[in-house]
Amino acid sequence: MKGKKSTAITTTEKKAIPTRQEQQDVIRFGQAWEYSPSIESPAIVKIAPRYNLFINGKFVAPKSGKYFTTINPATEEKLAEVAEAGEADVDAAVKAARNAYNKVWSKMPGKERAKYIYRIARLIQDRARELAVLESLNGGKPIRESRDVDIPLSAAHFFYYAGWADKLDYAFGGRKLSPLGVAGQVIPWNFPLLMAAWKLAPALACGNTVVLKPAETTPLTALFLAEILQEAELPDGVVNIVTGAGATGAAVVAHPDVDKVAFTGSTAVGKKIQQALAGSGKKITLELGGKAANIIFEDAALDQAIEGIVNGIYFNQGHVCCAGSRLLVQESIHDVVVKKLFRRLQTLRVGNPLDKNTDIGAINSRMQLDKICELVNSGVAEGAVMHQKQGKLPEKGYWFQPTFFTNVTPSLRIAREEIFGPVLSILTFRTPEEAIEKANNTFYGLSAGIWTDKGSKAMKIANAMRAGVVWINTFNKFDPSSPFGGYKESGYGREGGRQGLLDYCKVE
Ligand code: NAI
Ligand code: MG
Repeated sequence: MKGKKSTAITTTEKKAIPTRQEQQDVIRFGQAWEYSPSIESPAIVKIAPRYNLFINGKFVAPKSGKYFTTINPATEEKLAEVAEAGEADVDAAVKAARNAYNKVWSKMPGKERAKYIYRIARLIQDRARELAVLESLNGGKPIRESRDVDIPLSAAHFFYYAGWADKLDYAFGGRKLSPLGVAGQVIPWNFPLLMAAWKLAPALACGNTVVLKPAETTPLTALFLAEILQEAELPDGVVNIVTGAGATGAAVVAHPDVDKVAFTGSTAVGKKIQQALAGSGKKITLELGGKAANIIFEDAALDQAIEGIVNGIYFNQGHVCCAGSRLLVQESIHDVVVKKLFRRLQTLRVGNPLDKNTDIGAINSRMQLDKICELVNSGVAEGAVMHQKQGKLPEKGYWFQPTFFTNVTPSLRIAREEIFGPVLSILTFRTPEEAIEKANNTFYGLSAGIWTDKGSKAMKIANAMRAGVVWINTFNKFDPSSPFGGYKESGYGREGGRQGLLDYCKVE
């Protein structure tokens, strides 16, 4: 059956694959674009050899007595040892949060809470350079992105919700909002500081206190943030940060004195959390995986769209839940899009995350690299045609060349499963109706992209998307005032905007 399906589209798709001569020309063209290195100094940030847990305003050794190593995925070198919180540690953190909630934070007027949140935002700005370097060292993302995206957006999120803290009673037509209590928050490794900001800022603005668990591969910027919280003189226990892996996360969400759970990560763990908490009465929000369609019509501005496609899937090594990982191209422009994309691929610079010219950094972990390789191999085995950037990769560290597939049918694993790497699957469509059907043909529904010259068409398609965020003639744009969240297996609840307050409040 697979064989039949692929012959049906091969005639169109085969032409699109550049000839050997064309490929050689394009690869040479790509190499001609090399820049001399421009490396940001890692010495900008001081990394301690060992980090403890941040509980009740202080760094304390874990009762578990355990530590784990955190590395730089671009070099596999050890950066620091980090405490692994066990159940007793999580319990201490929740107790501190409860105490701070009862005695201080829930009683403080919103305009006073706002001052602390503004202060946190300002301190993030003050220390932006250190934070950017640390984010790139620990996570593998290019410094250009951590400097221009992650850190400024983190500060912006705190600024935005600081602005809400004293206006909660005006947010929803005069209805009174009150906090939920202690929030247990578990975040992933793809945007470590930004996800901490997305979780902390609305929780604090509404008067909740927090136990936050960063991802095991990227704990360092959250611990740096803990130092910022001390510097901001945030009252003890309002935010507690417990590091560790899945077991620590499970202990946080299952703790009986946690009132609200917020999780960003894999759909598999999201489902486990729902099962574990069923009937507990805890309020839950989940932001899970995605398999977004980026739809490009024949009337789109093509060169602009190519940049959008590249940004949509190769941004942050494709470690983006809302990545435009399925490209739906109108059949009439398939060949030209493939050729342009192949050419653009060769000019992407892959390598040292601290180099300011780098477009694509390191894959976050060995585990994630293995997952990408496994899915890419399945695509080749199932008959899709693979196109990659040519060139050498560093010997140490975890790397994957930016890749796209043609000859993809909707039933292939690479068209259905979240790869979470720099890998794009290209499918075709003929009519807007077919585009809508194919775009929505997924278990996920986090985001979508639409590229067309026609405003009416863009609005019609956008309304038909079963996805939380739809970008038109752009992709991967974020703003604290704009809510973000999913449909279907991408989860529920919204982060950002006025809507983001609702998940941290009771509305009376
Ligand atoms: P994960 O879902 O296991 O990890 C995310 C966070 O959840 C981490 O802090 C982890 O320690 C914690 N966690 C793990 N098990 C838990 C449990 N039982 N209870 C509570 N917390 C738990 O994701 P992982 O294993 O790092 O990546 C697997 C795949 O998930 C990726 O390949 C990607 O497809 C997807 N993913 C999606 C993300 C998104 O932003 N939607 C972010 C990270 C991963
Ligand atoms: Mg996992």
